[in-house]
Amino acid sequence: MSSAFKISGLHKAYGSNVIVDDLDLEIEQGEFLVLLGPSGCGKTTTLRCLAGLETPERGTIELAGRPVFDAAARTNVPAHQRNLGMVFQSYALWPNMTVRKNIAYPLKVRKMKDALAAGRVEEAAAMVDTGHLLDRYPSQLSGGQQQRVAVARGLAARPELVLFDEPLSNLDARLRDSVRTEIHRLHESLGFGAVFVTHDQSEAFALGDKLAIMNKGRIEQMGTPQEVFDNPGTDFVAEFIGMANRIELERAGSRWRTRGGNEIELLRELPDAQHVVARLWPDDVALHRAGDRVPDHAVALDAVLLASEFGGRHYDVTVAAGPEQFRLRVASAQHGAWLRSAHEGEPVVISFRPEAMQVYADSAPVAPAQALAATA
Ligand SMILES: Nc1ncnc2c1ncn2[C@@H]1O[C@H](COP(=O)(O)OP(=O)(O)OP(=O)(O)O)[C@@H](O)[C@H]1O
Ligand SMILES: [Mg+2]
Repeated sequence: MSSAFKISGLHKAYGSNVIVDDLDLEIEQGEFLVLLGPSGCGKTTTLRCLAGLETPERGTIELAGRPVFDAAARTNVPAHQRNLGMVFQSYALWPNMTVRKNIAYPLKVRKMKDALAAGRVEEAAAMVDTGHLLDRYPSQLSGGQQQRVAVARGLAARPELVLFDEPLSNLDARLRDSVRTEIHRLHESLGFGAVFVTHDQSEAFALGDKLAIMNKGRIEQMGTPQEVFDNPGTDFVAEFIGMANRIELERAGSRWRTRGGNEIELLRELPDAQHVVARLWPDDVALHRAGDRVPDHAVALDAVLLASEFGGRHYDVTVAAGPEQFRLRVASAQHGAWLRSAHEGEPVVISFRPEAMQVYADSAPVAPAQALAATA
């Protein structure tokens, strides 16, 4: 299969600020790539380089095998000839144009007269349930309707690649779910390749064929959602996808000491490391009332309750074990009754299975599947 796009050695700086740093990124045709990363890491800049709205200093970009940018060869195909759709976070609808004219705009720019005549605008509007809004102006639409129109405009020319820059972040939670499902469905039926930028892990896991986690202008990890979930490659990735619990460990002979003074045994030798970091998902940490039995083979730490928040079927609980805080997600059915009346400072015990820990030395993974640990 050929690639939908291929970025190699891309470099973009503003003055002395390097924003995209020797970036390589590629997806197959029809693949849906989700790009996740913190604010300012260069996600929008990368999309703008792909779209031809920014000129990088170095590197190459191919779209469907065709070079559209090559700094060395001075190739730079203008944006309107790159045949890709773009859906911006800000919607960016033209306020002085009706919905019909907004959706028709990419067809007009590409001089697709036949498609215009064949009702492609109406078809695109209907796909996202905005067919009845064609003669309105953007100011006469709700936010959700504007977002749908922006999606219709991005897809109207049937581009092979569509770039979505946080298209759902201005929508309320319910609408976000329904537009997300629509985008998913459209991708399945139309088969376009996509790059979809988001901050939201659940959006990323739900939509992506592949996830790329970006940090400071580079890709830290790329894989399927399952691969990234099972094996976050670095401490940064683990943090970013919601593996919120972080335990700093210092070597203490053959064991490892937490900052709270507990000793944990990592079954794997890490001969060169003095400090490592372990990561745990909130729902892999169990809560026990002081004095309750802790499962055999689990790592147990004494802690105190700091806060608990009701979430329906679960509680989000924060505890402190020594100087380190842990976030737990526990079942209401199991703990709701006493958590409702529990107070801050109440002694508790937390426990986790050693194999639930991902261990990182210097933020590189330590063969996570084998980095088993046992209690001291
Ligand atoms: N035209 C510009 N001139 C100078 N600096 C810029 C310009 N555009 C972006 N930057 C800087 O480049 C960095 C990356 O910006 P970019 O918009 O790509 O980030 P992002 O990953 O999309 O972040 P966010 O999640 O907040 O949208 C930021 O520090 C930003 O201030
Ligand atoms: Mg951005």
